[in-house]
Amino acid sequence: MTETAANLSANSKDAIVDALNQALAETTITTALAQNFHWNVKGMAFGSLHALFQQVYEDHFVAQDDLAERVRALGGHAEGHLSSMIKRSKVAEHDGHAKDTEMVEALAVAQETLAKTLADLGELAADRGDSLTEDLSIARGQVHEKFAWMLRAHLA
Ligand SMILES: [Fe+2]
Repeated sequence: MTETAANLSANSKDAIVDALNQALAETTITTALAQNFHWNVKGMAFGSLHALFQQVYEDHFVAQDDLAERVRALGGHAEGHLSSMIKRSKVAEHDGHAKDTEMVEALAVAQETLAKTLADLGELAADRGDSLTEDLSIARGQVHEKFAWMLRAHLA
């Protein structure tokens, strides 16, 4: 049965909010990763990678807001505390000192990690009957798999 925020149990809301905050943390760390690489990338592929990294962080910046505001719609606390985000994120920070191919690889891994986190969120939301969070997570997961493909294509 499909539920809305008004009808979900407190237990379901807590579980979904936590999973949304996980996705928010990883999206935020990946935003920083992409912007760091946008600034520091060098080499003959500079133009296309500089632009692609910008496409990633602009998308992710908007997604942070969508995920955080879904948390709030469910009555939860949107975790915007950076050190907490870094601690829980399965996407690691990067100092930005890397070759262009290493940057592409790190950002591809981040996209694959996010795709899995969003798929897990979607599965949880579906189990709890929260089709609106499920829809958001499916849409976000598809974007991350698309970026993973675009990044991996550089390494073929
Ligand atoms: Fe820029």
